Amino acid sequence: SAQTIIAPSMLSSDFSRLGEEVEAVCRAGADWIHLDVMDGHFVPNITFGPPVIKSIRNRTDRVFDCHLMIEPCDPYLAAFADAGCDVITVHAEATRHLDRSLQAIRDLGCKAGVSLNPSTPENVIEYVLDRLDLILLMTVNPGFGGQAFIPSVVDKAARIKAMIGERPILIEIDGGVTPETAPLVARAGADVLVAGSSVFKGGPDAYAANIAALRRTS
Ligand code: DX5
Ligand code: ZN
Repeated sequence: SAQTIIAPSMLSSDFSRLGEEVEAVCRAGADWIHLDVMDGHFVPNITFGPPVIKSIRNRTDRVFDCHLMIEPCDPYLAAFADAGCDVITVHAEATRHLDRSLQAIRDLGCKAGVSLNPSTPENVIEYVLDRLDLILLMTVNPGFGGQAFIPSVVDKAARIKAMIGERPILIEIDGGVTPETAPLVARAGADVLVAGSSVFKGGPDAYAANIAALRRTS
């Protein structure tokens, strides 16, 4: 819908032109910029860290939505805040003390998010709801773009929506989001859609139409 926040994942962009790619998706209608940080330890892939994020921070005023797939995460939170991240999301599976990690993110002046892998039950966030600004539900196993959407997460999103009640917490869906799967997640109450391959496919000339297709179907 018009209110759905569309967050292109830069993982699917041309890294040799990262700054221009950020500008191009913003011109094409992106609401947020989703930044996938991978460490080759929590997930079987390695991407980029704070210096790269800092280098593109001046390309746009849009929200930098940082998805940390790193373990441990606590030692690096300040560096990501300093790099200009607005939202910092950690994986529940990657921190031994989730409550502490979430407090640390807010203490740095950022919005705090938690991410759950497809197999992780929603009860792990039951006692930290008041420390959360965003819940990122993985609809693929984290590590790579271009994987198939795992539909069982749609039920989990609906249960979490009920659990958060009136709290001002956004639900974000990440992985395999396309114009075909966007209606499913929108119906389950998703506020933010992350999309990598379905935004960047076809190159810069196609970004605006790709983003519009997600907006129309969500
Ligand atoms: C996967 C990342 C996603 C990924 C999504 O670990 O968290 O953000 O880039 O890519 P698509 O939209 O291609 O599934
Ligand atoms: Zn992500």
